[in-house]
Amino acid sequence: MKRSEINSIIREFEALLAKYQFVLPPFLGFTPEEWKEKGEEYGEIRDNALGWDVTDYGLGDFNKIGLTLITLRNGNFNDPRYTKTYAEKIMMLREGQLSPNHFHWKKMEDIINRGGGDVIFHLWNADENEGLADTDVEVFRDGRKYKVPAGSGIILKPGESLTLYPYTYHDFSVVPGTGSAIIGEVSMCNDDNSDNRFYEPIGRFPTIEEDEAPYRLLCNEYPAVN
Ligand SMILES: [Fe+2]
Repeated sequence: MKRSEINSIIREFEALLAKYQFVLPPFLGFTPEEWKEKGEEYGEIRDNALGWDVTDYGLGDFNKIGLTLITLRNGNFNDPRYTKTYAEKIMMLREGQLSPNHFHWKKMEDIINRGGGDVIFHLWNADENEGLADTDVEVFRDGRKYKVPAGSGIILKPGESLTLYPYTYHDFSVVPGTGSAIIGEVSMCNDDNSDNRFYEPIGRFPTIEEDEAPYRLLCNEYPAVN
């Protein structure tokens, strides 16, 4: 992806959050220059890769398979200094973008439509070979529990959420004509490097072509503290 594209996506997400009055903590507004001056006291953000994340999953087609997200809080399985057992993300999914089918071995998560467009999910149980089972899937939806056939579409309107247990495959996208969605995630501590089982293998971070200066640093770009 070009840096200019990432910059404009971040600005678009900031505007969408402002429209729905979701206010971000201060560190998300730091400029790259300001990050150079931030010392040890911001170690939690660097060490746990909190912050901006624009991904095309390494596939180079952001408009079809892409997601913009912010990790607001998280623990760290690999670092005993960070004992949070929970995590929170906020995401922007545009119309036409798919968040590709995956499950988590460990993480249980609630995915919440926080505003904007309607979001459609498809759920499958993982079978013993981590393929897609054709068994009915239990849906846990804001205190309501029911079953649907594998792969059924489940639409969440703003305010609604789904609870996803480990080994439940899920993909999601925006219902066409409803506009970009703000999607929240409240989950157990999250390790994107080791706990995402994508149905089709994909990457994680985009390759970036630096055609202009970054507006915000991404969560894997913070400078080391001297
Ligand atoms: Fe997930």
